[in-house]
Amino acid sequence: MKKTLFSLFIITSSLFALSGKSVYTEHCAVCHKMQKPKTGLLAPPMPSVSKRLQRDIDSKEKFIAFVKDYIQNPSREKGHCSPKAFNHLGTMPPIGKSLNHEEIDAVSLWLYENFKHPEKIKSCDTN
Ligand code: HEC
Repeated sequence: MKKTLFSLFIITSSLFALSGKSVYTEHCAVCHKMQKPKTGLLAPPMPSVSKRLQRDIDSKEKFIAFVKDYIQNPSREKGHCSPKAFNHLGTMPPIGKSLNHEEIDAVSLWLYENFKHPEKIKSCDTN
């Protein structure tokens, strides 16, 4: 009986484990695509956001702290995009304010872990 309960616990907790990817799909993908769209660019593609921040920010902890803050309190002063990109796309809305802490943590970690190759970065508006 104990064993059954324990396995049930394992199964349900993995079913409900929050994935950063699913937070991305639900809350970010509408603007941040995986590839640059041919028309109607709303935001820099997600791989270039991650790569640029990995280039500019020197530790995983600081990267995650930046993303957690930026998605709740975005501003032109804090952003790493070029002035041209801000003029063209505007500042990101504070999407993170409608997410809970688990979702914010999961998507910020995912943004770091899911993209590696910081050498290939172009500016926001061209990539
Ligand atoms: C309504 C469109 C929209 C949605 C939805 C959106 N973003 Fe953004 N995001 C933008 C735009 C536009 C920019 C570029 C301007 C800026 O940095 O504010 C941006 C910039 C960013 C930046 C900063 C990039 C830099 O180099 O400074 C991060 C990090 C980011 N978004 C993460 C996210 C995450 C994570 C989500 C989902 C939880 C998300 N965004 C949802 C529009 C959006």
